[in-house]
Amino acid sequence: MKALQIKGYGDVESNLAFNNIENPSIKENQVLIEIFAASTNPIDYKIIEGLLKQVIKLNFPTGIGYDLSGIVRETGKSVKGFKVGDEVFSSVPQESRSSFAEFIAVDENMVCLKPKNLNFEEAASLPMVGLTTIQAFKRGNLKAGDRILIHAGSGGIGSFAIQYAKNIGAYVYTTTGTANVGWVKELGADRVIDYKTENYLDLVKDVDFVYDTLGEQFTIDAFKVIKVGGKVISLIGPVDDETAKEFGLNLIARIYLYFKRIKLTGKIKEKSAYYKLISMKPNSEDLEIIKKLVEENKVKSIIDKIFPFSESVNALLYQKSGRAKGKIIIKMK
Ligand SMILES: NC(=O)c1ccc[n+]([C@@H]2O[C@H](COP(=O)([O-])OP(=O)(O)OC[C@H]3O[C@@H](n4cnc5c(N)ncnc54)[C@H](OP(=O)(O)O)[C@@H]3O)[C@@H](O)[C@H]2O)c1
Repeated sequence: MKALQIKGYGDVESNLAFNNIENPSIKENQVLIEIFAASTNPIDYKIIEGLLKQVIKLNFPTGIGYDLSGIVRETGKSVKGFKVGDEVFSSVPQESRSSFAEFIAVDENMVCLKPKNLNFEEAASLPMVGLTTIQAFKRGNLKAGDRILIHAGSGGIGSFAIQYAKNIGAYVYTTTGTANVGWVKELGADRVIDYKTENYLDLVKDVDFVYDTLGEQFTIDAFKVIKVGGKVISLIGPVDDETAKEFGLNLIARIYLYFKRIKLTGKIKEKSAYYKLISMKPNSEDLEIIKKLVEENKVKSIIDKIFPFSESVNALLYQKSGRAKGKIIIKMK
């Protein structure tokens, strides 16, 4: 089969190749999926550039891509929930990363039937952003009546998170650039802050929850806008000790991270706040939640551009531009 693979660390343009490799063989608990569409995520280019070397070890050549939709072509002996011909969607864990390919073997417990009202491209847009947000809001116990700031409402994560937070019944502040204000408002956000003309720090006060999708100074400043006892769930900020353990980091690495987040620790204490860096865990139960939300028309797929498989590198370069309006799709079929 044809698969896009990472050749080595470095820039996106020169470190990817389309290789002809063996079709994956499945274990007892896995299904073989013929991939019809995949979606890109910022982690894809970050891995190539070596930005995650400390937590993700690669042996080259290696696969790329997490999100996918497609059709089950084979099932392992112990698979109970799927049959050949089922239309499914999934996000795979680190060790199975390789959805920019024609086929993939996925554990049954990380697969879900595709929402009935979505085509393959739409279904492939949802797993990573949906799973991450469901797990983040669950961890931060977002509930009806809470006020939440969601940074980058026009991104892959933000465009899902706004819809999901409104569904939970929260009041949503979000930030984006001028060109995106109109359509982001239509997703349901209560107050869209145009970061080019407004400063969110002047407008957002004492919120219950900040969903930090931007990191660095945005993580630190989250503690200026949350209420005492509020929650900051980050996708990209400093690694807390619990998450460091989940990453399997040794004591020395964890001590290093302890000192690296010392400024943040001070901010957390000042606000008696809760802070957590979320690391998404693929699973079919949370995919079922996404499926239900979509089938009940409570969440829709937001797609910016669709690239043919042969133009995957351009899809990744567009992702890296940081200007995506929703999700970027790679279409295999
Ligand atoms: N920890 C995890 O498990 C996990 C899972 C998924 C994602 N992530 C991380 O979460 C982050 C967000 O992912 P994503 O898929 O949403 O990224 P994305 O789709 O690439 O985000 C692009 C969007 O960000 C907006 N943006 C950029 N700078 C902004 C700013 N200063 N203020 C407001 N909006 C801004 C852009 O709008 P404009 O063009 O208007 O600027 C654009 O629409 C990434 O770093 C990703 O790696 C982590």
